Amino acid sequence: MTRRYCFGKPIDTEAVLNKPECSPREEFPVKRENGRFFFPLTEEDIVYGLGENVRGINKRGWIYESMCADDGVHGEDKVSLYGAHNFFLISGERHLGVFWDTPGKVTFDVGYTRYDLLEVRLEELDVDCYLIEGDSPDAVVEEFRGLIGRSYIPPLWAFGYGQSRWSYMTSEEVREVARKHREHRIPLDSIYLDIDYMERYKDFTVDGERFGDFEELVREMDEEHIHLVPIIDAGVKIEEGYEVYEEGKEKGYFCKDEQGEDFVVGVWPGKCHFPDMLDEEAGAWFGNQYQKLLDMGIDGFWNDMNEPAIFYSEKHMKEVFDRIGEFRTKNLDVNSYFEFTGMVAGIANNQEDYKSFYHNYQGRRIRHDQVHNIFGYYMTRRASEAFDRLRPDQRVLLYSRSSYVGMHRYGGIWQGDNLGWWSHLALNIKMMPSLNMCGFLYTGADIGGFGSNTTEDLMIRWLSFAIFTPLMRNHSAMGTRKQEVYQFERQEAMGNIIKIRYQLLPYLYSEFMKAALGNRMMFRPLGFLYGKDSLARRVEDQLMVGESIMIAPVYEQNALGRTVYIPERMKLLRFHQGEPSFGQMYEKGYHYVEMPLGDVCIFLRENYILPLSRGGEHVEAVDWQDLTLYSFGEQVKPYGYYSDDGVSKDYDLEKNVLLLAV
Ligand code: GLC
Repeated sequence: MTRRYCFGKPIDTEAVLNKPECSPREEFPVKRENGRFFFPLTEEDIVYGLGENVRGINKRGWIYESMCADDGVHGEDKVSLYGAHNFFLISGERHLGVFWDTPGKVTFDVGYTRYDLLEVRLEELDVDCYLIEGDSPDAVVEEFRGLIGRSYIPPLWAFGYGQSRWSYMTSEEVREVARKHREHRIPLDSIYLDIDYMERYKDFTVDGERFGDFEELVREMDEEHIHLVPIIDAGVKIEEGYEVYEEGKEKGYFCKDEQGEDFVVGVWPGKCHFPDMLDEEAGAWFGNQYQKLLDMGIDGFWNDMNEPAIFYSEKHMKEVFDRIGEFRTKNLDVNSYFEFTGMVAGIANNQEDYKSFYHNYQGRRIRHDQVHNIFGYYMTRRASEAFDRLRPDQRVLLYSRSSYVGMHRYGGIWQGDNLGWWSHLALNIKMMPSLNMCGFLYTGADIGGFGSNTTEDLMIRWLSFAIFTPLMRNHSAMGTRKQEVYQFERQEAMGNIIKIRYQLLPYLYSEFMKAALGNRMMFRPLGFLYGKDSLARRVEDQLMVGESIMIAPVYEQNALGRTVYIPERMKLLRFHQGEPSFGQMYEKGYHYVEMPLGDVCIFLRENYILPLSRGGEHVEAVDWQDLTLYSFGEQVKPYGYYSDDGVSKDYDLEKNVLLLAV
């Protein structure tokens, strides 16, 4: 059951599609004082949710802030990442989901100050709050997802393996990446183009020298069944003669400062303006720009820097320069030294800058900080709406760095600039169910880590997990160790793991589609399924993937295996050198399972079916009919196998599900 409580005059984010009437505020079931709300927590309560965030599946014991941030160091001490996903679920004796619909900052003190209290703090008491009660965590999530609408569905090819790096600098480099994958028989479906494909980082342009044969390149890759996926940044470069800039300026489509001038920020291209993604006309105009690349044969995009990230604003930079002169002759002591370094460090993503420009949203002029968390959402929404106009019958791949609940209808997300750290592999695992709860199904992290040098064993372990995530992309930053699979000595082991992904595809796609169309989660914490089992509820590093399997990834260096909690009888399906075979049967309880580097272990539930294909070098090469059904038990249930053409938007659970039985 959902109840909506309306406080103040919230800005409508359009996150919720089906809004119930407002209930009387006096009936709000927990204590509140102005903008503070206090939810009591019992000892057994687990707090799930909050989407893209640091720390565990159980969010208890930390403070989180919804304030979309471009922060490349996802340490445990952080409170915000790129998204704002204001939904949590308190699960214990009862199951209560709460969604806070406001585009401004929200703070969640989840038993940090007081272990037995979850306190929600709002800067302004303008919010629509939805309370959802249900018999189980699944029931609550399903109801919440029903309110916010169906999750984004990408084209089928986007479930293949993708190779990215910042940056492949020329067409030739892209060709080489494709060639090497095919040569080494490492499956591949997409290659990503980071900012250097553009001419001087100008959105919707292609560099004429380094990518002079762009359309030819797209065609060639297409013949190889490889899709090129260019990046689009939020800032539009200020450059005379650049069409997008000129037109945006002339029509008044950029965000304005207090005085009504186009607000100037510095991002990758240097000085830029932000198109007002929130404004319907400006947003539609921005969305239409994607046509330039669609017309060149592109069918996938990633939207970046849309928190929005601000390296500097022209206004604040000037203030800093003025002030810096004062330090030149100073004998910097402890205070002035930190003031000086802090001032320079504080130039990027400065909170004052977010208070310095304006949007035109739903007929009102609104200062950016009040709608900060929906900027990336609207950038992606505008692109998606444009695709609906420009390519009505075709799915286009689209995902974003920044997001808000509601954006899940228009695109997926990748989990931002992680690092080549083992703890970030663990974070990737833990974030999957939290994101699924909030509607983000098409997601994954940069495999191997984006920043800092990865290691060969981390790559292998990360791939072993990422073969399950809908978005499976290897991406790394400029200047770091190269991490295409063929750069490593043990590339064969890595290639074998990627091949497993293609064997799993029919199951993964089927489970993804059933989750999207049925408002369910694809990745669930064990506590969702085995809620009465107090040990299962506490497991933080294993996941149920779809209805048939559980995974227990290794995320520690030099481990040869790990302890796995088996919540019900399960059989091990071990992939050794890419080949599956049944291993031991495990009874409920803790077990140490050997998992040498390169082996992938799947735990199959009794009486459930896991269909596997024979794989392929790209998605189109996979035979979706030639399946081997793995199962064990006396009463194996038929498997509801969803499949479709993967291109059109003809999604239909009834029509597209076939029952597979053993
Ligand atoms: C941002 C993105 C990253 C990209 C880089 C250069 O840091 O998050 O994925 O490679 O910008 O465009």
